[in-house]
Amino acid sequence: MGHNIKHRQFHTKRSLVIYFLKGSLRYFILSIVFASIVSLADLMNPKIIEYTVDSVIGDQPLAAPGFVQRLANAAGGIGFFREHLYLIALLVLGIALLGAVCRYLFMLFDSLGAETFVQKTRDSLFAHIVRLPYAWHSENHTGDIIQRCTSDVETIKLFISEQLMSLFRVVLLIVLSLWFMMRIHVGLALAEALFIPVMVLSSVFFHNKVGAAFEKVDREEGKLSSIAQENLTGVRVVRAFGRETFEQERFMRQNAGYTNLWYHLQLILAAFWTSGNIYATVRNLVVTVLGVVFCVQGSLTAGGFIAFLSYNALISLPVRGLGRVITEMSKAEISIDRLRYIMNAEEEQDGVPVDSLGSLRVQGDIVFSHVSFTYPGRDHEILHDISFTVPAGKTVGILGSTGSGKTTLLSLLNRLYELPDGKEYTESAADSASTSQTAGSTARQPADGSEAVQPACAGTITIGGIDIRKIPRSVLRRQIGMVLQEPYLFSRSLAENIGIACEDVTQAELDRAAEIACLDETIEHMTRGYDTFVGERGVTLSGGQRQRAAIAQMLVRRTPVMIFDDALSAVDAETDARIRQKMQEQIDDATVLLVSHRITTLMHADEIIVMESGKITERGTHEELLAAGGLYARVYELQTREADS
Ligand SMILES: Nc1ncnc2c1ncn2[C@@H]1O[C@H](COP(=O)(O)OP(=O)(O)OP(=O)(O)O)[C@@H](O)[C@H]1O
Ligand SMILES: [Mg+2]
Repeated sequence: MGHNIKHRQFHTKRSLVIYFLKGSLRYFILSIVFASIVSLADLMNPKIIEYTVDSVIGDQPLAAPGFVQRLANAAGGIGFFREHLYLIALLVLGIALLGAVCRYLFMLFDSLGAETFVQKTRDSLFAHIVRLPYAWHSENHTGDIIQRCTSDVETIKLFISEQLMSLFRVVLLIVLSLWFMMRIHVGLALAEALFIPVMVLSSVFFHNKVGAAFEKVDREEGKLSSIAQENLTGVRVVRAFGRETFEQERFMRQNAGYTNLWYHLQLILAAFWTSGNIYATVRNLVVTVLGVVFCVQGSLTAGGFIAFLSYNALISLPVRGLGRVITEMSKAEISIDRLRYIMNAEEEQDGVPVDSLGSLRVQGDIVFSHVSFTYPGRDHEILHDISFTVPAGKTVGILGSTGSGKTTLLSLLNRLYELPDGKEYTESAADSASTSQTAGSTARQPADGSEAVQPACAGTITIGGIDIRKIPRSVLRRQIGMVLQEPYLFSRSLAENIGIACEDVTQAELDRAAEIACLDETIEHMTRGYDTFVGERGVTLSGGQRQRAAIAQMLVRRTPVMIFDDALSAVDAETDARIRQKMQEQIDDATVLLVSHRITTLMHADEIIVMESGKITERGTHEELLAAGGLYARVYELQTREADS
């Protein structure tokens, strides 16, 4: 849905934050405006008290800036205020109210900004992650990706909505307070100012320690919860093997270490707060003593002294908090980089505009031609020079020991993994195939003979004569129905699971698919039928039911090409035979690629291919392969003997 924007790279941390800030920036700006008003309001009251004490109660001339003088005169002069003292109280109340309203608005816009920011960030991350190539997902751990999308996003949110905000507010408050203090008494203000860096630095020092301790605590907590989680999800294994005591001891050891770390952390915090209190006391002492001295000397008025003490109290806590803010800001850097890693990964791109090819139907023979493949970043070649054809409407079976590369072969057909661009490679692939049988194991060079690329990734796959690299992935995958080796069901209803790849699937379609997949009886036996809720990952279904649900899921799509990757392994031989029979009766025009370890599943295929360590070692019909007496014949004999006994 309009996501087809060109891939963009975020070269700096700032560019990423600015990108995520779209939509929430205006809230943050409003929030800053109101925060500034709050600070100003906070700073007003001491000033009013000063004027009141000195000029209203006392008899000194009003030492206020011109506009305040004019305002006071317009209202009726100092004498008027002296007679109507409640006016001053009302003024104080009014300013407090203004401050309260602005504080509310500041917090409102700040959280509005924060939540909008988080929403936008998560939406962008999700939209991006679901489009990242399969290879990226197999390299990155799900847990890690989820953590980046939750706690790292949270960290960045706090960085903007709390840390940056408080940094702004605290600095503004300190600067303005110091300015007001300077206006009251320069000497006293200088004494006050000397304490500020000391407090900020000591606070940074402690918070660095606290931060490091917190990190350790976090890590240990992660380990502790993964032990707990593993044991809860794997409770059957733990029980079955009688590992309760072992697991309990493991948990207790970890928990003891974890508790210890918390204890250590609390010690640091206690030291921080007590030392902070000592600083504050010393500072108050110095300011008070000096203030009294200046008062006696006559360079400071009583009102000024009171106002000064108010400012002193006003900035006391924010200054101590500044250290925490500064330390925590450094955490955000790491988090932003962790999100940048995700956002900079390249999405699957199709190059061809999908709409123009949306109606393209993938039909005809599927031809694998000299396909060799190595997983990205590995140096072990998985497929060596594979060539075979699945004629349109026919069925080809693949037998092969585990790890021989069958699933890999199918992933290539589906473009989950890519063969390199045809132009440079086809020639050399054809060359090496004709000159030597072992070509597959050596690194191939591009046609122009420049530097060597990844070892042996070559060949082409075509469907109906079209190179699959020229077919947009979405079109290709819409036409190829694949039942995965390990089907994955979502925790939704059975009907939703079966119809997951289609919009508006009809009941008739569901029934047809369920019938062919021999799932109809199972569904009838469930009290809620199609509405039965499937547990997480499909755990509430049996292995065979899960596989049949996956088959039905593919059948509703009515794709011209169907691929079964060992899709009947958990289904009993009898049901297996029934499913194959039904498919033959009802969908005989599909092109089918069938991977199985069971000879009875494969024996009716038009051609059977035997794979061993990434190479095709035998091929032919069931009878031909039996006569050849190779691996196929041996497996057949083994399986029939088993069945007999
Ligand atoms: N994503 C991956 N990254 C790196 N290596 C992989 C990846 N997936 C599979 N392999 C390796 O490729 C080889 C072939 O795996 P593949 O899954 O294709 O085997 P298979 O023939 O389907 O086996 P089985 O019958 O057990 O399903 C294995 O050695 C495996 O370790
Ligand atoms: Mg496999």
